[in-house]
Amino acid sequence: NAQDVEAGKTVFKKCAVCHAADSTTNKVGPHLGGLIGRTAGDVTGFNYSKAMKDAGAGGLVWNEDTLAKYLVDPKALVPGTKMAFAGLKKPEDIQNVIAYLNSIPK
Ligand code: HEM
Repeated sequence: NAQDVEAGKTVFKKCAVCHAADSTTNKVGPHLGGLIGRTAGDVTGFNYSKAMKDAGAGGLVWNEDTLAKYLVDPKALVPGTKMAFAGLKKPEDIQNVIAYLNSIPK
């Protein structure tokens, strides 16, 4: 809901140093516009780790379930990922940031 999206926008400040909330701008990390439903490692022109490319080739798609796992502990879901982020510890932060990501237009 709208409240979760607002709260998630605040959580996203932790991500924004490395990720843009649009569909064009790659920073240290790939852009996250249109993320939900996207195959892992699929942004053209972004230099992913081999681990992330392999995860996508193996069928990893970003949805609420896979994101919740990745955001709590990136290296647990994708061993070898180069995303240097300790993870979000609070379940509500994870749910809210996913709601925010879902609200970003493609
Ligand atoms: C990759 C989300 C924080 C750097 C990714 C991916 C997602 C994601 C979903 C995979 C994208 C894809 O497959 O196209 C988030 C969220 C964050 C966050 C929601 C905050 C809660 C950060 C931070 C950094 C970072 C703080 C930099 C210190 C990266 C990098 C990748 C990546 C370098 C590519 C990983 C690889 O190729 O193995 N992020 N991220 N992220 N992120 Fe983040």
